[in-house]
Amino acid sequence: MSIKKKLLTVAVLAASTGLGLGPSLAAEGDPARGENVFKRCVSCHSLEPGKKRPTGPNLYGVFGRVAAADPDYRYTPAMKEAGASGLVWNDENLMAYLEDPRKFVPKSRMILKLPKEQDRLDVIEHLKLFGDNADAAAESGAEAEAPATP
Ligand code: HEC
Repeated sequence: MSIKKKLLTVAVLAASTGLGLGPSLAAEGDPARGENVFKRCVSCHSLEPGKKRPTGPNLYGVFGRVAAADPDYRYTPAMKEAGASGLVWNDENLMAYLEDPRKFVPKSRMILKLPKEQDRLDVIEHLKLFGDNADAAAESGAEAEAPATP
């Protein structure tokens, strides 16, 4: 095999395994940075199973969960309705909700916005680490990003 062909093969392999430095990297979150972003959420939310906060629902296992599913929290009618109509907290919906919660679920109670896309990507990766099926959540996240990989 010629050097040129070899290099090409390596590049294709790298791209297909997600190691390529393609545009896909721009759309990935970093859970470590997400932990930092989550400091803005802790006044209202806990990620410890069963732990209550007076202001917001518990977020343990929130990734992949239907909206308004913390049995110990009194959600707004708006959020309950969103859950009843099938809203699930996947990557796409969390990205939209965290950018502007009351635009995504009108009349819901949360007001904090994360206007920076990278902050949202990062904090969502952090959320995925907390839940009974955290591994599956992380994997489904990787799959959801697959179309961005050449
Ligand atoms: C000032 C308080 C406050 C802060 C700060 C806050 N939230 Fe919330 N959050 C709420 C409230 C209140 C609700 C419930 C909304 C409702 O019932 O309408 C909520 C709901 C949610 C939900 C939906 C939960 C469910 O069970 O359906 C997610 C996800 C969420 N918040 C994520 C975050 C993240 C991530 C951050 C930090 C970037 C954050 N929140 C910061 C108050 C807050």
